[in-house]
Amino acid sequence: MPVNNRIADFHDEITEWRRTIHQHPGLLYDVEETAALVVDKLKEFGVDEIVENVGRTGVVAVIKGRKNDSGKVIGMRADMDALPIVEKRDLPHKSKYEGKMHACGHDGHTAMLLGAAKYLAETRNFDGTAVMIFQPAEEGGAGGKAMCDDGMMERFGVQEVYGLHNMPGMPVGEFAIRPGPLMAGTDEFTITIEGQGAHAAQPHNGNDPIMIATQMVQALQTVVSRNVDPLSSAVLTVTAIHAGKAYNVIPQEAQFYGTVRTLDREVRAMVLERIKTITQGIAEAYGAKVDVKLKEGYPVTSNHEAQTSFAAAVAKDVVGESRVNMDQLPVMGGEDFSYMLEERPGAFIFMGNGDTAGLHHEEYDFNDEAIPVGSSYWAKIAETAMPAG
Ligand code: NI
Repeated sequence: MPVNNRIADFHDEITEWRRTIHQHPGLLYDVEETAALVVDKLKEFGVDEIVENVGRTGVVAVIKGRKNDSGKVIGMRADMDALPIVEKRDLPHKSKYEGKMHACGHDGHTAMLLGAAKYLAETRNFDGTAVMIFQPAEEGGAGGKAMCDDGMMERFGVQEVYGLHNMPGMPVGEFAIRPGPLMAGTDEFTITIEGQGAHAAQPHNGNDPIMIATQMVQALQTVVSRNVDPLSSAVLTVTAIHAGKAYNVIPQEAQFYGTVRTLDREVRAMVLERIKTITQGIAEAYGAKVDVKLKEGYPVTSNHEAQTSFAAAVAKDVVGESRVNMDQLPVMGGEDFSYMLEERPGAFIFMGNGDTAGLHHEEYDFNDEAIPVGSSYWAKIAETAMPAG
């Protein structure tokens, strides 16, 4: 099968939904308009169950196959939120809300999953249950986590979960994937040293938090060079350091902060642990107190082996063997589908968006030519994972 014929018939209709969503973007959890459109369409398709407000403004739909002997439940996820960017191009479907824009193609993701829902609700040519997940707040609000924390996986009995993102610069009709880490885990640290200030000419009366902070910054450089396996990768960058305001005063406090990027759960945990150990050890050596704040960002998006092979096989079925790259290099951006992959086995795949502006760019627009490819991929995920026989 290349692109599914019935889905090709829906191309214009899905394009219309996509453009309507594009015109009415919402940020983070404020995706009520898009969620309402999704619910309207799902009702029209006659899906078996629609649950709103999962993870605040997320929507979940259940579509039962014509048989349910297999007992299988497959989750498929699209994100619905836009970005705080002023849209530059004067498209006929340009954003109606100044300063909000679908610059990451989540309008396309949502429309394609809806297209698959329409097809699956009409044909029901599978043995099991398809769970369509429409999530808010992918762009930094951890909406994927909110849906998981709401008990989504248990409530709908999801056994495996799949996600997709468009990729500008990759031709339409191509896919790319890899087993294991595909996107980075992102974390932030803030280190505050509470020391003893003093007169600049009487340093022996204090313990100089500036000197302590600089020693910590130096020592933290050993985490990547001396603790991370040379064949793994990590980045630890101090991006700010603040202390003092006078030429003749040693301040009481110093603070610095920065970011950590990793592609592996164990490396990530080790790096964060080393930050604590090193800064606490140095503070203790100089008789100062240290407060270490770690702000967890999204975890590493790590594809499960068997589900990656399965997703790649489905993609090959849609676009042909030679158009699926199985060795995609990891990308250092974050993605909150990672939370779903921590709860259930699954895989995240990139799909070509053609020669468009890059993600998060003011001139970006989702490529509607990719719609039949993405919707066919989703339909085929359900039909292949749960064959009707
Ligand atoms: Ni995105």
